[in-house]
Amino acid sequence: MKRPGRNEPCWCGCGRKYKACHSAFDDKMLTFGDKGILLPDHDIIKTPEQIEGMKKSAAINMAALDYVAEHIKAGISTQDIDDWVSKVTLDMGGHCAPLGYEGFPKSVCTSINDVVCHGIPSKDEILKDGDIINVDVSTYYEGYYSDSSRMFLIGEVSAEAKKLVDDVKRCVEIGLENVKPWTTLGDMGSKINEFAMSCGYEIVREIGGHGIGLEFHEDPYVSYVTKAGEEMLMVPGMCFTIEPMVNMGKHDIYIDDDNGWTVYTEDGTLSAQWEVQIVVTEDGYEMICW
Ligand code: MF3
Ligand code: CO
Repeated sequence: MKRPGRNEPCWCGCGRKYKACHSAFDDKMLTFGDKGILLPDHDIIKTPEQIEGMKKSAAINMAALDYVAEHIKAGISTQDIDDWVSKVTLDMGGHCAPLGYEGFPKSVCTSINDVVCHGIPSKDEILKDGDIINVDVSTYYEGYYSDSSRMFLIGEVSAEAKKLVDDVKRCVEIGLENVKPWTTLGDMGSKINEFAMSCGYEIVREIGGHGIGLEFHEDPYVSYVTKAGEEMLMVPGMCFTIEPMVNMGKHDIYIDDDNGWTVYTEDGTLSAQWEVQIVVTEDGYEMICW
């Protein structure tokens, strides 16, 4: 950890001297570092101004998802969802973060049934009765990123599919209950995994949550398959997503060879995911985007 001199300006940019600002905070972090726990770099700890910026971005993100929630139904195409998200976002002055991100061709990810994530909207893909779909929206607005996703049930859905969707929502709630400063991401993630496994599901290993704010994807990586006590320390001001991808069958996945994006369950079972974006506070978390 790089520490300023006691009388130098604090690294958080508040303008106060380090000794009067984050010096005690860093002392506390270092006691965890001494125990071998991974510490966050200062540059991923958000200032109050940055948190305000993320909330403005999130307002657009959630408005786009609210629009989808009101209009999604059997017979529409996933391209329709892309058009809606794009219009709501641009009308509110934002940009769709997925568009062009590492070459992603559309403005939103739409992942149906056994598609785990990164489904590419298409006018040829029509929602039908019984489908479950994840719509993953990410926004850039005036320097700040936001990211959340929701599941939607199309028409009459099987009892087991509905249960999966509900259980995965519970996974995220359990994650939120376990966002506590001065504990680790492994403490939080392992609780999610315990619950998912108790339902007979498996959580995808290779793709998880992520830090977010000034970049779409920042440190830390948020896993749900690591153990309690492992992974990065959570400290106030850290901002990240909780977004477990939960498969009804095995955790194994594969990526579509033709487009290099769409991720499927290897065994063809259903997969569900909800994503929220939070900031760690002194006594838990504050919701930024859902
Ligand atoms: N929204 C996804 C996430 O939760 C990222 C999608 S990347 C994209 O991290 F390029 F596929 F959009
Ligand atoms: Co995300």
